[in-house]
Amino acid sequence: MVDVVLGLQWGDEGKGKIVDVLTPRYDVVARFQGGPNAGHSLEFGGNKYVLNTIPSGIFHEHCINIIGNGVVVDPVQLKKEIEKAMTTGVDIKKNLYISEKAHVILPTHRLVDAASEAHKGEHKVGSTLRGISPTYQDKIGRSGLRIGDLLDPNFNEKYAQVVANHKKLLDSFNYEYNLSDHEPAFFEAVEFLKQFKIINSEYYVNSLIKEGKKVLAEGAQGTLLDIDFGSYPFVTSSNTITGGACSGLGIAPQHINKVYGIFKAYCTRVGNGPFPTEQENETGEKLRKLGHEFGATTGRPRRTGWLDLPTLKYAIMLNGVTDLICTKSDVLSGFEEVLVCDGYDMNGKTTSEIPFDLSRKDILPLYRSFAGWTEDLTKIRNYQDLPATFKTYMDYVEAQIGVPVNVISVGPDREETIMK
Ligand code: IMP
Repeated sequence: MVDVVLGLQWGDEGKGKIVDVLTPRYDVVARFQGGPNAGHSLEFGGNKYVLNTIPSGIFHEHCINIIGNGVVVDPVQLKKEIEKAMTTGVDIKKNLYISEKAHVILPTHRLVDAASEAHKGEHKVGSTLRGISPTYQDKIGRSGLRIGDLLDPNFNEKYAQVVANHKKLLDSFNYEYNLSDHEPAFFEAVEFLKQFKIINSEYYVNSLIKEGKKVLAEGAQGTLLDIDFGSYPFVTSSNTITGGACSGLGIAPQHINKVYGIFKAYCTRVGNGPFPTEQENETGEKLRKLGHEFGATTGRPRRTGWLDLPTLKYAIMLNGVTDLICTKSDVLSGFEEVLVCDGYDMNGKTTSEIPFDLSRKDILPLYRSFAGWTEDLTKIRNYQDLPATFKTYMDYVEAQIGVPVNVISVGPDREETIMK
């Protein structure tokens, strides 16, 4: 059986920690989409680790970690990540498997990302500039290079062909660059990756399922950044929803069992695009400060706001969420009142459906107010011990969305977790 864990908001819901907490129950953790635009933070034993491409099960010795075909891999970034993880004594060569069908991010993909964002000016998406969109564009355009190509004796020729196209594109943007600043590290990383297990991962993952191994499919970004259902065009370039786990790993839908949906007790977003409950005021500042809301990958300050139930319900519907996990509940301690958006007023009409264009100017969030709490939640380990005001808030959220909240995270460490 395969369980899926993914984000229900605009990313940064705290997936890394939750996968790390869930991993002891699984034999395999597999990433199915996205690439080094993700930054999954894990904390244990007083140390913090950020993983971008490597699945979050890597620090568990028993766990097989697969980078699936749906992921885009930057060899330079992955080499750095592997080298860093190796310093902790983890046996990466034994536990990491890379799909030969995963697409490769080339240095020119990163340059095209930067050039295209610069060209868009004030309409830019606010991409992480990791080359994600140009790499997926080449995948869909049937001109990309895959990890399996790195092993081809003619790799350099294939590379040159793709790069020639990118150069034309960069010229059309009048973008100045010096490829020789980037290529040596790229080719060094390509050689480095050859020592790892580059495999046909769809056969491997299906054979593991047949053996009865338990697989956890790890999503990146969040549902509201999904290429089809997110706040288009302010989205990432992959399917971040449960369906993405099937195409991004080669798993048939009937193998999917549980879907763990992760949401923060409030909302954040990095990059541009609509955010109906955003608080561009003191409350937003306070959330950012208390929640340390700065991007794990880019360090950018995250935009902050109140919990938005219409988008959360939408995400739960799209993903078939069976179990909810609420993270960063501890951050709300000390707010006099806590608001939850119940629906939107659009041009005088109340709705809880997500409109075609979430950027429209006439969306007014309708809030319900709850009394806040002052208690520090980080030391609490039993649900009964949580403040009554917190439980009133959480009971309301649960009743509105109709799916149980089974886990409440009250801090970044593995230990700071309440299993309900
Ligand atoms: P890209 O995926 O780098 O092309 O960025 C597209 C949009 O998705 C931008 O608004 C990014 O800030 C956002 N984004 C991409 N990856 C993440 C993530 O892991 N967490 C949060 N936002 C992300």
